Formats: sequence, structure tokens, C-alpha cells
Amino acid sequence: MIQRISDRVSQVGALDPRLPYFDALMPTPYGTTYNSYFVRGDEKTALIDPVQEDTVDQLLQNLKGLQVDKLDYIFCLHTEQDHAGAIPVLRDIFPDAQLVGTARVAELMEYHFHIPRDTFKIVAEGDSIELGGVSLICMPIPFAHWPDNTMFWVPEERVLFSSDLFGSHYSPAIPNCPDEDIWLLETRAYFSEIMMPTRNHVARYTAKVRELDPKFICASHGPVWRDPSIVLDAYEEMVSDKVRRDVVIAYVSMHGSTARMVDVVADELCAAGIRVALFDLGDPNRDLRTLVGSVVTETVNAGSLLLASPTVLGGPHPAVAAMALLTNAFNPAIRYLGLLGSYGWGTQIEKQISGLTARVKAERLESVLVRGLPTEDDEVSLRRYARNLADLLKAIPDAEVIGD
Ligand code: FEO
Repeated sequence: MIQRISDRVSQVGALDPRLPYFDALMPTPYGTTYNSYFVRGDEKTALIDPVQEDTVDQLLQNLKGLQVDKLDYIFCLHTEQDHAGAIPVLRDIFPDAQLVGTARVAELMEYHFHIPRDTFKIVAEGDSIELGGVSLICMPIPFAHWPDNTMFWVPEERVLFSSDLFGSHYSPAIPNCPDEDIWLLETRAYFSEIMMPTRNHVARYTAKVRELDPKFICASHGPVWRDPSIVLDAYEEMVSDKVRRDVVIAYVSMHGSTARMVDVVADELCAAGIRVALFDLGDPNRDLRTLVGSVVTETVNAGSLLLASPTVLGGPHPAVAAMALLTNAFNPAIRYLGLLGSYGWGTQIEKQISGLTARVKAERLESVLVRGLPTEDDEVSLRRYARNLADLLKAIPDAEVIGD
């Protein structure tokens, strides 16, 4: 489906509404889109990012719909296969099209697609490619999220091609009429797994885009932002150090002890007025990737994360270990990180979880480890633990808190 953005710019990319997971990891309940943009100048034409290889037919159909039989430039904003995958096919169909990218893009294209880097017209920050009446200015955004991500700014149309930045894995049934609530939810999920690990870079780029004041933000996934203030507001909050006064608990229980510990802590936190989000990573009816993805999204601007695990062969349950590993990788800006655990005769879970989350800068709460089924005394300790955490969250200055 072709989406007109302005007289000169159209979205000609592909829809993939049934994709269940991106990168075999990230849940995509609304699928995704691989956005590609066609720009028509008075003298030359350009394609901004092709699509994933297996969806190239949709792109070609859309170009045909616009009567495009010649491309002067193919801009590559990012070499990940979901965007650059169709470049070899397009080079066969449009052999005269000049590939355009930064030196980083050209370097990575050589590795990922065996396209020699000297095939590219290399551009750098501030370079402009003129199409006649319209130009594309290069704005690299390294580590949002790969080292090669690049934005291009069209000043004449105030259109920003933002690569993965501001994207969302959301393929609405009617691409021009996205449901804003779902869209924002998926933007948050996308941010958590793609942008949060490098959020300091992303904060700088967000500020830069705010200053640019685009009329349209054309990201490489999801619908086009026709009111960019919506996504800029959301990003400004997500990249900030502000948190909610809440607790996310991700747990597994094998025989009920850990679940009992979680129930007691959650109950006391709620009684203290703290919002709690519980995720049972052992839920047999849900894919672990979906559960872990939900936890990661929930940790954006969360005040605290508690991991709770039984002991399995001396260490944490593998699902909790995976959660710890990914928390370390996604690196949410939580204030407090805690561990609840149960064991039968001995445990190394504290040491192992501590090692798996070494990069997380949050203050560590003293772990609560219970042998066997929690006793009444254990429950008293757990309630004290919960009240202490509630007090810590309430002590965060209001100026650093979201949503109170
Ligand atoms: Fe959508 Fe990083 O590729």
C-alpha cells in the first residue's frame, strides 16, 4: 500500500502483520512494517531504505504504482537485514541507481551483503544530496541502535527519515489510521528493547530532533508520525531519569515457596500504596519471550525491579537467569533492584544473579532467601522488606517521579 506523505514523498514499504517475534526474541503482537520511502525531485529520484528481502515484492508493486521505472539513488540508513535485505534485488532491477550511505554503512554492507564499500557514494554529517527542489541532508545517529544508523533530513518538506529511531513494531489494519493507544504501547515496547540499552545517545538525538521541529517523522518501522510531538514527548519521558513509584516483580515458582514470598511482598506493597506489576515467567500458557518482553517494557521508567527464583541445581531457575541477563543488556534506569529466593538445602542464586546483573546501576536491596516453605517469621521479614522498599520509593523527590 502506498501512503502519500507530501507532494514529493511517499511510503512504499512492506507490511508484515503476522510476524510473531522480531529477532526471534522481541514479541510483535501487531506484526511490523519495513518502511521504505520514495522521494521525487525535479531532476532525480531516491529510495530511502529498501525492505526485508522476503517482502520486496510489495515494494516493487508500490514503485510500479507510482510509475517509477528509474531510481537515481538508493539510500541505506542502516544495514540490518530488515531494511537492507532487498538491496541486492534492487541493484539487479535498477543497476544505474547509486547507493548512498555513511562510511559505517558501507563498511557493514561489505560484511553483511558482500557489496564492496567503494560501490557507495559516501556521505557524512551535514552532506547534502540534491534531487532538484528537494535535498537530503545526512545526520548520523550512531548507536540508535547500531553504529551505522543514519537519519536524513529534507528541509524543503520538513520530513525526517529517522531510521529505527522513533520506530514501532506495529502494522495497523489501516496504515493511515493507526490506533494511537496501541501505537504508543508498541513504541514503548520497541524503545525498551531497541533503544533503551543506548538511551544516553538516544536522549541526545531526541533533543536534536525536537530542535529540528519536523513536520513528519518517517521511521523505518510502524506508521508515519504526522504529529511528531506525540513521539517526542514519549521519548523525552523514556530517556529521562524519572521513574514511577512502582515495583515490577518477575518470578518463577516450582513448588509454591517463591510464589508465596512474592504474594506476601506484593500484598504489602499494595497496602502501602505502591503499584505492583507481577509477571510469572513460568506461566505454561505463554511463551517466555513474550513474558520477558513484557517485563522489559514495564521496566522503562520503573522505580524498582524484583527478581524471584527458586534454586535449581544451586543457581537461579533458567527463566529468571534469562530475565537477569536481559535486564543487564537492556539496562533500565530503575532505582532499586532486589532478589527474593527459596532453596532446599543450599543456594548460590544471590551470587549468580548479582553477576548476571552487574551492569545495572540500581541500588541493590538486601536479598531475602528462605529455606523451604516460608514460615510466619519469614512472612514478617518479607512484609518488613516490602514496607522498606515502599518507603524508599516514596522518598524519591517528586521532581524525579512520573505519574504522581
Ligand atoms: Fe529495523 Fe535495526 O533494524
